[in-house]
Amino acid sequence: MNILIDLSYIVASILFIFGLKMLGKPTTAVRGNQISAIGMLVAIVATLLYSGMDYRWIIVGLVIGSGIGAVAAIRVPMTSMPEFVALFNGTGGLASLLVGWSEYNKFLSTPDGTLEVVPVVAIFLAVLIGGVTFTGSMIAYAKLAERIDGKPTLFTGQQAVNALIVAALVISGVFYIMNPGAGLSQILFYITVVLSLVLGVLVTIPIGGADMPVVISLLNSYSGLAGCAAGFVISNTVLIVAGSLVGASGIILTSIMCKAMNRSLAHVLFSGFGAASSTGGGSTETGEVKPISAEDAYYVLEAASSVVFVPGYGMAVAQAQHAVRELGDLLEANGAEVKYAVHPVAGRMPGHMNVLLAEANVPYEQLVEMDDINPIISSVDVCVVIGANDVVNPGAREDESSAIYGMPIINVDLARTCFVLKRSMRAGFAGIENPLFFKENTRMLFGDAKESITTLVEQFKSS
Ligand code: TAP
Repeated sequence: MNILIDLSYIVASILFIFGLKMLGKPTTAVRGNQISAIGMLVAIVATLLYSGMDYRWIIVGLVIGSGIGAVAAIRVPMTSMPEFVALFNGTGGLASLLVGWSEYNKFLSTPDGTLEVVPVVAIFLAVLIGGVTFTGSMIAYAKLAERIDGKPTLFTGQQAVNALIVAALVISGVFYIMNPGAGLSQILFYITVVLSLVLGVLVTIPIGGADMPVVISLLNSYSGLAGCAAGFVISNTVLIVAGSLVGASGIILTSIMCKAMNRSLAHVLFSGFGAASSTGGGSTETGEVKPISAEDAYYVLEAASSVVFVPGYGMAVAQAQHAVRELGDLLEANGAEVKYAVHPVAGRMPGHMNVLLAEANVPYEQLVEMDDINPIISSVDVCVVIGANDVVNPGAREDESSAIYGMPIINVDLARTCFVLKRSMRAGFAGIENPLFFKENTRMLFGDAKESITTLVEQFKSS
């Protein structure tokens, strides 16, 4: 039976790796997700074959967990997905902490029991990383769900307090690892649990606003590392492999996001970006804003031979993706070349726009990345910005005093004409004023993005 379990674990690991690889491209992502899910099923079934299982608790856990997962998958809107990812990361961290804790208790209750170095270290790491992941993710969830203020919380001596906690964790960890029995070591173990939970809160509160998705990706990576440590605690190979894969892919994604925002991870974690001012620096724009009606916008689009849609978070809020696709089809039928330019950090989570456009069946060949559209954008007749703001802010390119100076953007302001669809002059997620709205070739089409696009579609249909 053990050979069968081990073989199943190898099969599951291979499926995870192939599934992850396929998630890298929109065309194979759905299949990749299914393959990974099958891998997880194989891993769970194989684990249930271990002898000496108490199935009653497993069934209780399975029913509750599957119920919550199914309800969340069906009911949670796409716009709330990042906070749910945070919540699920947190539960992963808590699970690892509890596995470490229960194994430690088991060891304490075994008379004259001894623990090898590897499980001792693994228990400590599962508790430490699991604890930080759990409370850090809960704070991230609360911020994104607007249960608490989403702005960075900074206080004097914050870094010193964090450094003291880390030092205390290192000292208690070293002592516990060298003498993992009852007595002082046991007290230090409980202190480790408390301090790791406190550390999770303290390292997450100084981060806020547009940096939260990066933190969620980082916490995702931590939850993988905690799972990996839990795998060493209970000597479960597939948990070690899955945890390592989550840990590695989470850190790669974190680094991709930082690069797309032209920020270092240290800057994201320690700068308290957006805490001090509501304008995020940058010069205050006083130019003229030129609104346009949907009817007038229609005449410009009708005459355009190339149109590029640039979606952002507002498209997700308005759920305008189907209307956008319909408009794209009408423009193509009218003879225009249509493209959809996607910024790597548009929206609120990686691939957010790609998922929405795929849901509306936008052909993959019409999707273009920022680096491919920017060199040809000056030859585009009309760029239609749908609820995007920060990712098209030319201040990032032109204004050294802007808080997002240096972040790569889609240069929609360099197109011949630019329509910006949004409801007001309010700032985007980073809280930064956008000079794009005042440019000579920009026209603001105010209103809900779905309503504006639908009006444009009606104009095309009735003409
Ligand atoms: P934002 O800068 O957040 O701007 C979204 C705009 O959509 C808002 O200015 C809002 O203006 C408009 N909007 C909201 N609801 C709308 C509706 N129903 N109809 C029309 N417009 C609507 O979005 P973005 O340009 O996509 O930038 C994403 C931000 O998240 C960036 O700051 C980025 O750095 C950050 N971020 C994202 C990620 C990932 S992975 N996506 C990771 C890290 C950071 P009104 O209120 O005036 O309508």
